[in-house]
Amino acid sequence: MKKNQKTAKSKVAGFGTTAVHGGEEGRFAFDPVSTPIYQTSTFTFGSAEEAGEVEKGEREGFIYTRIGNPTVRAFEDKMTLLEGGESCVSFSSGMAALSAVFLELLKPGDEVLSSSQIYGGSKLFFANILQKLGCRVRPVGPYDDLKKVIPSLVTKQTRLIFFETPSNPELSIIDISLIAGLAKKHRLVSVIDNTFATPYLQRPIESGIDCVVHSATKYIGGHGDAIGGVVVSSKEFISGLRPNMLQNLGACLSPFNAWLFLRGLKTLHVRMERHCKTAGAVAEFLAGHAKVKTVLFPGLRTHPGHLIAKKQMSGFGGMVSLRLENGRACRKFINGLRLCKTGVSLGDAGTLALHYASMFHPKLSDASCRKIGVDPNLIRISTGLEDAEDIVEDLRYSLSAL
Ligand SMILES: Cc1ncc(COP(=O)(O)O)c(C=O)c1O
Repeated sequence: MKKNQKTAKSKVAGFGTTAVHGGEEGRFAFDPVSTPIYQTSTFTFGSAEEAGEVEKGEREGFIYTRIGNPTVRAFEDKMTLLEGGESCVSFSSGMAALSAVFLELLKPGDEVLSSSQIYGGSKLFFANILQKLGCRVRPVGPYDDLKKVIPSLVTKQTRLIFFETPSNPELSIIDISLIAGLAKKHRLVSVIDNTFATPYLQRPIESGIDCVVHSATKYIGGHGDAIGGVVVSSKEFISGLRPNMLQNLGACLSPFNAWLFLRGLKTLHVRMERHCKTAGAVAEFLAGHAKVKTVLFPGLRTHPGHLIAKKQMSGFGGMVSLRLENGRACRKFINGLRLCKTGVSLGDAGTLALHYASMFHPKLSDASCRKIGVDPNLIRISTGLEDAEDIVEDLRYSLSAL
């Protein structure tokens, strides 16, 4: 074993060392410093017997890229190490990863407890797919008295509890250890979407969570150029998920995107430090601005989840949300930005601002938006890697025109 292999694989290796080397070392011919892209659909064998041995798992190897690929496997192994799980399987998108977990765990009649503040795409999946399959989703407010509310909602049919912290886009915070404890007590599978925090800021498996899901499209890739998703969990769970939900449904990650994610992960710790610092500066600025009604950033002492975030995160993340007077002010503010771009997604090198109401419900009045649970006054900012002063200056400029 080579010296660098020891360093990255040993339990004492730091996050950065694992992010740079983990999962990639000593497994590719000629020891390349960058993992090769195995841009191949299928793999060939020296004999029929050899193929059979690979299929049975008696010989190391790959058969077909929909089921596994060396570049993809290196990415999965790095994610396993970074999240502190036992195993990982990747998918073609965050939604493919999330839907795979729900479809694997649920059968008709089962119930899910879910935080009410989660990514809109996950809510649509619940409404459009899970309900059709006869599963019921019961929402739980992130700031409810969870110790009381969760036990009161558990029935014989409840199978899993799902949550996001920090959540998209409200940045609500939920106590991870509390959820893990309640899930164990009531024999529920606990599933967290860890996209906003990344394993650099928060490692839910260490707090007892069963299953971690990511949209790798965001901070893991970090450059806005690839779509993908991952699930990190126990060996037992992943060994069922891979054949059932990857092989059968077929939403596999491409080797090229896996390579982009491997590259993204090498700088995750450095980028997240910068994102956190810039988001802190942006939040402080917005909190002091007369035209801003509310700032939602877990790093602010005024945030309802601040103390829990401080306990379970090593930084408060790169996302900041704010509320202005009304939808019209939000549109004007977004349109006045010059450096910050308008767009969905997050975690990229460039700052992105989103007014969810006007992008997804352009024809609805503020009142109609509220009726369907969309806050017309909310803007979400994914702070990028530009100089914090330049981002703040852009926000100041646009706010001044309101
Ligand atoms: C928190 C969260 N989870 C999951 C997803 C879905 O990921 P993807 O777009 O990669 O399918 C998103 C997308 O924005 C998200 O923000």
